Amino acid sequence: MKKVIFSFVIGLGMLTQANAFEGDVQAGKTKAAVCAACHGANGISAVDMYPNLAGQHADYIVKQLKAFKDGSRSDPVMAPMAAGLSEQDMSDLAAYFQSAKKAAATSDESTVAVAPVTTAPALVADAAKGKALYEHGDKARSITACIDCHGKDGASDVLINPNLAKQHPEYLEKQLHAFKDGSRSNASMNQVASNLSEADIINLGAYFKDTSAVGDVSEMQTVTVVKTFSGDVEAGKALSATCVACHGADGNAAVPMYPSLAGQSEHYLVKQLKDFKAATVNSDEGRADPVMAGMVAPLSEDDMKNLAAYYASQTLRPAASKSNEVGQKLYLIGDAKRGITACVACHSIDGKGMGQASFPAIAGQNATYIKSQLEKFRLSTRGNDTNGMMRNIAVKLSDEDIVALSEYVSAMR
Ligand code: HEC
Ligand code: HEC
Ligand code: HEC
Ligand code: HEC
Repeated sequence: MKKVIFSFVIGLGMLTQANAFEGDVQAGKTKAAVCAACHGANGISAVDMYPNLAGQHADYIVKQLKAFKDGSRSDPVMAPMAAGLSEQDMSDLAAYFQSAKKAAATSDESTVAVAPVTTAPALVADAAKGKALYEHGDKARSITACIDCHGKDGASDVLINPNLAKQHPEYLEKQLHAFKDGSRSNASMNQVASNLSEADIINLGAYFKDTSAVGDVSEMQTVTVVKTFSGDVEAGKALSATCVACHGADGNAAVPMYPSLAGQSEHYLVKQLKDFKAATVNSDEGRADPVMAGMVAPLSEDDMKNLAAYYASQTLRPAASKSNEVGQKLYLIGDAKRGITACVACHSIDGKGMGQASFPAIAGQNATYIKSQLEKFRLSTRGNDTNGMMRNIAVKLSDEDIVALSEYVSAMR
């Protein structure tokens, strides 16, 4: 019964091009915390392969989230993210990201955005050709002008069609390839993309890169190199005296069963300290560890922030370890057959994690410690990973996988 009503509501929503569910911007903002790791705090992502969501049409966002959930748009990273979302969550999130446009444009956040990676394409990109194709299409090759559906300068006024302006070119190129090879399906786009040559795709990418044509892209790709910490580094240093025995004087642990904390993200460290404390109040919550429970007991929230700032400001001396090919393959590609998401999706290409949210840096960490954590996630004795992100993966790892991954990750630089 519920299902019938549901599809009716969706049908209606499509007809009117309006959201069947009213989205609540504030609720969406709260729910978006888990998305920030990849899509950025304001929906402006720092990683080329993760799309910006700020200012995107809410209707389009809802449609994509539904597609990720029902599998009609398949992506190993977004599938588990969307699986847990209700219709209301989707509408709230969409409302928030649509409204995030202004905030993003005037943002002075201290989030660290990475510089756009300029990889030299094998073909020489021609932005002018990309622009011509975008605006006029190519009748001879049956390519409809993109502007017809995506609007002038990539700002579409059809709510179910995505804005392309200010989107990462690398992401857009990947989508064009996916529409072309059919791995992402949409009738209009599959038709359009099937006629695009490799040169067209690169030219279009170059056009999207062209700031004068698609708005000020530079605005969202500014490099903030200054490391800022929300906690007080000096106060944290003073507090760290009690931690030295296990985590080392500067956060570099000498004993391999203890984690190094140096250079770890502040967000992640604060979360762990809070989680250790939460577990002492309710054993079903947080991260239970008998040793750390005692350590965090006397810490106030400010102490935690200051300690996190101190360790984040230190430099990691990577563990001595030799690389591992099996581990490397799992890390970079995962294993689709066994449903293992590639670690790179969340811990990034260099293992440095995604700082502004809580995806930890793991590169150069002690292998013994990494192994112990993967085993804990596998057994769910560590269960403080939002949405079971790590447990879902670890449960599919064999003992051999865990050893291989621990070696590889520990040897990453
Ligand atoms: C671990 C990283 C990660 C997290 C966390 C994440 N996403 Fe994504 N998201 C991605 C990737 C990667 C893609 C692009 C998939 C593709 O290439 O098709 C994507 C695509 C999307 C898209 C499609 C955008 C477009 O232009 O088509 C939407 C909408 C989206 N994500 C929403 C969300 C929301 C809402 C959340 C939080 C509930 C979230 N994502 C959390 C990685 C992530
Ligand atoms: C007939 C209308 C139409 C035309 C013409 C068209 N598109 Fe699209 N495009 C769409 C729709 C609809 C979607 C959303 C598909 C979905 O819901 O998954 C889309 C999605 C996209 C996306 C993915 C955006 C994202 O955020 O994931 C890209 C990139 C794109 N189009 C580029 C182009 C380019 C380049 C052209 C011209 C060569 C073009 N489109 C022509 C309708 C069109
Ligand atoms: C007696 C040894 C010991 C002392 C002293 C100690 N820790 Fe730990 N710490 C550990 C162990 C063991 C773990 C790993 C727990 C697990 O396996 O989940 C850990 C884990 C952590 C983590 C999580 C690291 C990660 O990568 O997830 C943080 C953060 C942390 N400790 C901070 C501190 C701080 C801050 C202090 C001082 C106030 C401190 N620790 C004192 C033993 C210690
Ligand atoms: C969908 C995102 C995602 C993927 C994919 C992922 N991780 Fe994680 N990982 C996380 C998050 C989030 C945490 C931190 C959980 C928390 O808040 O305590 C984490 C924590 C960890 C930790 C513990 C770090 C520490 O300092 O305690 C290790 C080790 C780890 N991941 C290894 C891996 C490996 C190896 C893979 C690939 C097999 C992988 N992860 C894939 C999201 C992911």
